[in-house]
Amino acid sequence: MNRRLSLLPSLPIYLLFHLLRKIPTLHQSGIFTSPAPRLPSTLEKTTFLESKKPDVYQTNFEPTSYLEYFKLDQDPMAKEVLHFLLKHYNATFKPGGLKGKLLIDIGSGPTIYQLLSACETFEEIVASDYTDKNRQELEKWLKKELGAFDWSPVVKYVCELEGHRDRWAEKEERLRKAVRQVLKCDILKERPLEPAVLPPADCLISSLCLEAACPTLGACRDALHHIKTLLRPRGHLVLSGTFGSSFYMVGDKWFPTLPLEEKFLLEALQEIGFTIEKLEKAPRAAETLLDNRSDYTGMFFLVARRGD
Ligand SMILES: C[S@@+](CC[C@H](N)C(=O)[O-])C[C@H]1O[C@@H](n2cnc3c(N)ncnc32)[C@H](O)[C@@H]1O
Repeated sequence: MNRRLSLLPSLPIYLLFHLLRKIPTLHQSGIFTSPAPRLPSTLEKTTFLESKKPDVYQTNFEPTSYLEYFKLDQDPMAKEVLHFLLKHYNATFKPGGLKGKLLIDIGSGPTIYQLLSACETFEEIVASDYTDKNRQELEKWLKKELGAFDWSPVVKYVCELEGHRDRWAEKEERLRKAVRQVLKCDILKERPLEPAVLPPADCLISSLCLEAACPTLGACRDALHHIKTLLRPRGHLVLSGTFGSSFYMVGDKWFPTLPLEEKFLLEALQEIGFTIEKLEKAPRAAETLLDNRSDYTGMFFLVARRGD
């Protein structure tokens, strides 16, 4: 028989009763067990892990792998994301829409799709990204270098939206002329384009960058504040991205993302003086739900105006 159990009958019955009554209190006081530690949330784990990596984008983000997402004819996710974004860029920058002198694209990555409509109504465009490789990949396309990504299916699609598919080569040239610089950018810094000095822009574009760059909602609020400093008063911010995403894959590399929600985004923008002029949303399409390269639940495209 268990030795401890065999001792029980020898204890005075009142002592045993007293001890049993005390057990819950002793548990709470931590004498029997120390309190269970609070488990870190996924976001905290992610942030912790990321803070241990020296520079995850600079080291792991391979532009040519990322560009696989933009093969419009081959990839259902490319179709879903691009059709949504390009339709709204087209509506935003069509004749009678936004126009001006300077437009800055924040966190351009190695892509140009986000500038195809805007290059018709803005005279000068400045692209920017955090990583050297992304900026080099962009320059490759701008300078028509060997091995540059073939954007022509996407350019043709945008020309079709504009009503003249046959003018796609002219559009490519217009965009190449409009892009004046490709700058280093870090939206986590108070002055994201430092040391470059630019006049305040009439319009800012940023696509799929906030959720990739910001480790926390607080950092995201700050980043919106930082990019606002690049925009003139009454200028427009054209922001797009994913809702509810916690990661995406680029080739075989895993990148954590900040799951954004509509309420947070709108409140954060309004708090720093933006008026929301347009918000378009789309839930994730059924055709891409099984694609495990990312877990986003939907997409957004918004236009906001700086108030002061
Ligand atoms: C998902 S990609 C989006 C690229 C492109 N804008 C697009 O629409 O496809 C995220 C981009 O954010 C950039 N990025 C990461 N951290 C950043 C930071 N702190 N500041 C600015 N850009 C950053 C990355 O280099 C990458 O190009």
